[in-house]
Amino acid sequence: MRLLITTAQGIEDLAKIEISKLLTKIGALRYIEEKPLNVEGRLLVEVKEVQYRDEKGRERPLEIGTYLSENSRLLHRIILEICSKNLPNIESQEPETALKRIEELVSELPVERYAKVTETFAVRSFRKGNHKITSVDMARVVGKAIFDRLSKFGTPKVNLDHPSVIFRAELIGEAFFLGVDVTGDHSLHRRPWRVYDHPAHLKASIANALLELAKLEEGTFIDPFCGSGTIPIELALRGYQGNIICLEKYRKHLRGAKMNALAAGVYDKINFILGDATKLSEYIKSVDFAVSNLPYGLKIGRRSMIPKLYMDFFSELSKILEKRGVFITTERDAIEKALEENGFEILHHRLIGHGGLMVHAYVIR
Ligand SMILES: C[S@@+](CC[C@H](N)C(=O)[O-])C[C@H]1O[C@@H](n2cnc3c(N)ncnc32)[C@H](O)[C@@H]1O
Repeated sequence: MRLLITTAQGIEDLAKIEISKLLTKIGALRYIEEKPLNVEGRLLVEVKEVQYRDEKGRERPLEIGTYLSENSRLLHRIILEICSKNLPNIESQEPETALKRIEELVSELPVERYAKVTETFAVRSFRKGNHKITSVDMARVVGKAIFDRLSKFGTPKVNLDHPSVIFRAELIGEAFFLGVDVTGDHSLHRRPWRVYDHPAHLKASIANALLELAKLEEGTFIDPFCGSGTIPIELALRGYQGNIICLEKYRKHLRGAKMNALAAGVYDKINFILGDATKLSEYIKSVDFAVSNLPYGLKIGRRSMIPKLYMDFFSELSKILEKRGVFITTERDAIEKALEENGFEILHHRLIGHGGLMVHAYVIR
């Protein structure tokens, strides 16, 4: 069985490590590939069937998709792969030709192995690239091909709102993927604990990627621009035993972070401080690690204030940071200047896809 797994662009290597660890633990890993068909934010994983013993001692097949969904921190979707195929030149093809090609391809696939004709189904679609077709067009023809194929086995039932089986069709450039989405309609990065929705919150998967990059050990940790608390909450959920500090300037967001932490069951694991990160040393004398999603122009509004904000913040951070920091922002020039002027060394830089943008992540010391 093969799984097509989705995550944020730019963290596939970290997702690969996480998946390998989880699958090796249960003896299910055969093979794992980052960026199949050169598509970013995707991994293709071949797994072996494994059994577990239920409470009555009977051997049962382990649902690997469910196991990964429940245990991963970096993944977005787990899809049982039915087809991964390059469709050369599909981006330049006229809608009728491109759609016919997709319909013909899907009509040859054994979808009946994945959905019983008695179960309701729906097709969700995703498209990225310069095609002449839309994702709605694609969902329509894929849905028709599946319906026609299932019709050989009875009367298929479509339910667009609450389907039992969700087929997911993706067309990214020339790469076409079809599978059964075992994650459902909500991506795994949308955590159930998020009761307060900060306008610029970080995806929980990316928060965990930043925490991985920080290579944390025991000590004191701070997110000095914690917003709704995504990074500290995910850290507490990972069982971090050190002191976790969540600092935020605005009362409304700090209250939101507390509500989220309560919903996540980690309220008592985090110290919340209402304060200004540009006066950090007034609140804290020393921290080992700092990980944060910095305010940046596009989302916070007044972009002209960013260079001074970063300069003042990193000047304060340089007084208290003992080990490593990880920061993410769109403002490359402003952060690099502030890091350099305040004596920080950049250990690692990478780009990560977040909210339709590629943002810069830095590991510093
Ligand atoms: C990009 S958001 C962080 C979002 C957060 N990672 C989350 O997932 O909710 C940046 C946060 O920094 C806060 N902020 C802006 N200036 C600040 C300052 N001087 N000190 C502390 N927090 C500040 C903003 O109110 C905002 O909540």
